[in-house]
Amino acid sequence: MSQSADLAEAVERALRAPSVHNTQPWLWRMRPGVVELHADWNRHLPATDPDRRDLVLSCGVALHHLQVALAARGLATHVNRLPEPQDPGHLATITIRPGTGDVADAALFPGIDRRRTERRRMSHRPVPLSHVKTLAEQASRTGAVLVPVTGPAMRQRLTAALTEAAHTQAHTPGYGAELQLWTRRHAEGRDGIPAGNVPPPTVGPLGSSPLRRFPPGQLNQPRQPPGRGPADDAAELLVIATPGDDQLDRLRAGEATSAVLLAATRLGLATTPLSQALEVDITRQAVQLEVLHVPEHPQLIIRVGWPATAATELPATPRRDLRSVLLRACYGTDVIRRTHAPAHKYAPGSKAGGSSPGTIRRPLISCGMRRSQYPRSPGAHGSTPVALVRSINSVLCSLVTSSARPRTSTLQPLRVR
Ligand SMILES: Cc1cc2nc3c(=O)[nH]c(=O)nc-3n(C[C@H](O)[C@H](O)[C@H](O)COP(=O)(O)O)c2cc1C
Repeated sequence: MSQSADLAEAVERALRAPSVHNTQPWLWRMRPGVVELHADWNRHLPATDPDRRDLVLSCGVALHHLQVALAARGLATHVNRLPEPQDPGHLATITIRPGTGDVADAALFPGIDRRRTERRRMSHRPVPLSHVKTLAEQASRTGAVLVPVTGPAMRQRLTAALTEAAHTQAHTPGYGAELQLWTRRHAEGRDGIPAGNVPPPTVGPLGSSPLRRFPPGQLNQPRQPPGRGPADDAAELLVIATPGDDQLDRLRAGEATSAVLLAATRLGLATTPLSQALEVDITRQAVQLEVLHVPEHPQLIIRVGWPATAATELPATPRRDLRSVLLRACYGTDVIRRTHAPAHKYAPGSKAGGSSPGTIRRPLISCGMRRSQYPRSPGAHGSTPVALVRSINSVLCSLVTSSARPRTSTLQPLRVR
C-alpha cells in the first residue's frame, strides 16, 4: 500500500475519536508524508464550552488516535504541536519519519473501533488497582497525570462540584438548546449523539449522578442482578490533569484521554468522558483545589468500570466521512466538501443541511483558514457564525424547558488509592 493510502486510512481511523456532543470539531489536510490537524471553530459549543477546552481536547483525542493508527501501520512519526504561533487553529503537523512505529501505541489500535461512550449503569465489580495504574501510566506517556477520585469524602466533594455545574449550566442561556441540537439530529445525520446511545435519566435529585443529563434517550439500562441496587455501580472516576491550562495543555489532555480510553477498552473496561464540572470556571477550580488538591489543572473526568453483565453491545455513533473534513489547496482557495451544512444551520429535528454535498470556498491564508473566522474571544464574536449560534440558542433555549426530574446516585464511594 502506498504511503498516501496509509495516511488516508490512518486519518479515517482518527475520525472515530470521541468528541464533545459528537461535534467532530476537526479539519485535516494531507500532503505527501504529512498530515495537518486544524480546529473547526464552526463546531464550537459556545454555551456548553465557553473557553473551547472541550473542542481542543476533542481534537487532541483525534491527534492521538492518528498516531496510534500510523504506529499500527509500522510508521514512525514526528508531531509538531501548535506549529504556527499566529494561528491557534493549526493544532498539529504530523510528519512521517524514517523508522518503525511505536509498539506501545500500535497495541492500542484495536480499541479505536471497539470503544464506545457508556452512559448506562456499570458493574458492581471493582476495577483492580493494577488497571488504574496501567491507565495512569498511559496518561503520563503523553505528559498528563491521571488522578483517581478516592474515598467517600473526595467523592462527595466531586459530587457537589458536579451538582453545582449541572445547576449552573441548566441556567446558562443556550446550554439546553445546544443539548437539543446535538441529540436530535435528522435521521441521516453524521454527527451528534443518537437517542440509541443515551439511557433514560435515572430518578433522583439533579446532579447526584456524575453523568450529564441529556434529553431522554432510548437505550435500556441493563437488568440488575437480584438483590443489587443502583448504588452497586463500582465505576471509578479518574481525572486527567495537566501542568498548565493553555491550548497546548488542552491538546495534550486530549492525547492523554485517548491513551486512557483506548487502554481501558483493551482491558475490557467501559468508559464515559465527563466534562461538565470542568466547563464551569468555579467548579473547575473547586475540582482542582477542594477535591484533588493538586497543582495540576483538571481537564476531563473519565468514568471507568466493568460493563454490567447484562449490558447489550452499544451501537457505534456516526461520523462525518473523510471527504467532509478534508482541507485541500485548490487554486489559492481551500475547498471543504461537506456532506452536511455547518452546525448552526440545523434546528432540532430539521432536515436543514440535507445530505447532498455542498462546497465552501475559503481564501488560503497560512494554514488555509481565514483569521477572521476565529472567535476573537469566547465572549466577543461579532457577526461570526458563533454569534449566530448564540442567538439561535437563546431563542431555542427559551422554548426548551429543562427536564429537572429528580434522580438518585448510581455510584458508591471508591475504595482505590
Ligand atoms: C472532550 C469531551 C467531553 C465529553 N463530555 C461528555 C459528557 O460530559 N457526558 C457524556 O455523556 N459524554 C461526553 N463525551 C462523550 C461524547 O458525547 C461521545 O464521545 C460522542 O457522543 C461520540 O460517541 P462515542 O464516544 O460512543 O463514539 C465527551 C467526549 C469528549 C471528547
